[in-house]
Amino acid sequence: MQTSTRTRVPFFETVAIMKQRKKSNISIFVIVFSLFLFGIFMYNDNVKSISNFSFSTSTKPIKNIDSDQDSFSRDELPPEECDLFTGEWVFDNKTNPLYKEDECEFLTEQVTCLRNGRKDSLFQNWRWQPKDCSLPKFKAKMLLEKLRNKRLMFVGDSLNRNQWESMVCLVQSVIPPGRKSLNRTGSLTVFQIQDYNATVEFYWAPFLVESNSDNPKIHSIVDRIIMPESIEKHGVNWKGVDFLVFNSYIWWMNTVAIKVLRGSFDEGDTEYDEIQRPIVYERMMRTLGDWVDHNIDLLSTTVFFMSMSPLHIKSLDWENPEGIQCALETTPILNMSMAFTVGTDYRLFSVVENVTQSLKVPIRFLNITRLSEYRKDAHTSVYTIRQGHLLTKQEQNDPSTYADCIHWCLPGLPDTWNEFLYTLIMNQR
Ligand SMILES: *[C@@H]1O[C@H](CO)[C@@H](O)[C@H](O)[C@H]1NC(C)=O
Ligand SMILES: *[C@@H]1O[C@H](CO)[C@@H](O)[C@H](O)[C@H]1NC(C)=O
Ligand SMILES: *[C@@H]1O[C@H](CO)[C@@H](O)[C@H](O)[C@H]1NC(C)=O
Ligand SMILES: *[C@@H]1O[C@H](CO)[C@@H](O)[C@H](O)[C@H]1NC(C)=O
Ligand SMILES: *[C@@H]1O[C@H](CO)[C@@H](O)[C@H](O)[C@H]1NC(C)=O
Ligand SMILES: *[C@@H]1O[C@H](CO)[C@@H](O)[C@H](O)[C@H]1NC(C)=O
Ligand SMILES: *[C@@H]1O[C@H](CO)[C@@H](O)[C@H](O)[C@H]1NC(C)=O
Repeated sequence: MQTSTRTRVPFFETVAIMKQRKKSNISIFVIVFSLFLFGIFMYNDNVKSISNFSFSTSTKPIKNIDSDQDSFSRDELPPEECDLFTGEWVFDNKTNPLYKEDECEFLTEQVTCLRNGRKDSLFQNWRWQPKDCSLPKFKAKMLLEKLRNKRLMFVGDSLNRNQWESMVCLVQSVIPPGRKSLNRTGSLTVFQIQDYNATVEFYWAPFLVESNSDNPKIHSIVDRIIMPESIEKHGVNWKGVDFLVFNSYIWWMNTVAIKVLRGSFDEGDTEYDEIQRPIVYERMMRTLGDWVDHNIDLLSTTVFFMSMSPLHIKSLDWENPEGIQCALETTPILNMSMAFTVGTDYRLFSVVENVTQSLKVPIRFLNITRLSEYRKDAHTSVYTIRQGHLLTKQEQNDPSTYADCIHWCLPGLPDTWNEFLYTLIMNQR
């Protein structure tokens, strides 16, 4: 694959978004992604209707649907050998959404799609049904018991923050007003639950290793440069945390090659080499793995890594020629036998899989990528913010320019990611 120096793609990242998102950038975006899809577009583009979906009632209903929120038995958990990530989306408006948008005061404007004007809400009603078992019912109090006197920290980019917001909402409803608080200080945001002496935290580190994009507020950097062997600056903030949840993907997708600093930011160095993405990504993962091996006490800490959160920027990917990126989608991809790709760089997936398996301290790998690829309906699209402001009506009417097909509405898909996390955490002895 050719190395392109000048190709830049602005992504929506917190309040600081690239100044002008021009149409030409969108074309570049499509071109960059098409590069990855090169050779994969072999399947026939039969145009199929996506309007017909069955409201399937699963043969495997969610367990303990009426059981007590205040009790938990290990019997509720699926067998450890069950592959939670292979399954299907079933429509289930009895159990989903797991909370209401307007009942969680901690949701940011970036993700409150209904409040921001989204008219369809069925995207909130899909439940993930693993093929060979069922996910347990999410019991906030029971999770908080597990988190008592402990810290749960999400580390990564805005997708991980998306998931952190979801987790805050999933647990906050059982905590009385005044007994919970949010504190943002620099790269760290802490949701504190007094009565349990527990925290649910988010730490901003979009590349996990050191980079020039580490400022949580000002990171719309044109030339994103990283130090793949340098993690200590961030790592000191992760020590002593009981549950660490990492992710890193979207920031790697801006360019085909990644800019690697020669030397150190501290020394004022600015020269860099451009190196192929999977190679630098693996260097980053090995640095992380090394850090985990040397700093994590297996007995007290559990480490998770979320696989990539996919994008939906080209509606032909799911054979909808009338679509505009993800903007007009109201149902998931439900034809499980349809071959499709949304341009995910699975080379990075393999790297994470390989590295997490080769460590002394195991990192639990949560394989959320494929199941999220079905969820073209679940993005924030035009019902979100840009440069810190809600999109105007006029901008909302121009989805080809303004749709955000990277982040997810809440309640929504990241709640499912947290159901996996819940399952794995509750499984801890
Ligand atoms: C939808 O399903 C109904 C009944 O199964 C069928 O008659 C109809 O042709 C389908 N419509 C499309 C667009 O596939
Ligand atoms: C990840 O999950 C998908 C289904 O969602 C499955 O097809 C794939 O084999 C899984 N990959 C791994 C490495 O477990
Ligand atoms: C759930 O979905 C069914 C089928 O579409 C519908 O008849 C019912 O009114 C819905 N219930 C709620 C609470 O939205
Ligand atoms: C409260 O939680 C912190 C962080 O996990 C822990 O270090 C501390 O010991 C806890 N306090 C008590 C009284 O258990
Ligand atoms: C927020 O956290 C910082 C750093 O721990 C602390 O100095 C500050 O007092 C906290 N603010 C509030 C309002 O609790
Ligand atoms: C699902 O996709 C397969 C493969 O593309 C296709 O043969 C089949 O007709 C599709 N089913 C429906 C209901 O659209
Ligand atoms: C991951 O490991 C497999 C098996 O050892 C190997 O075939 C593959 O090339 C590796 N992938 C990467 C990205 O290192």
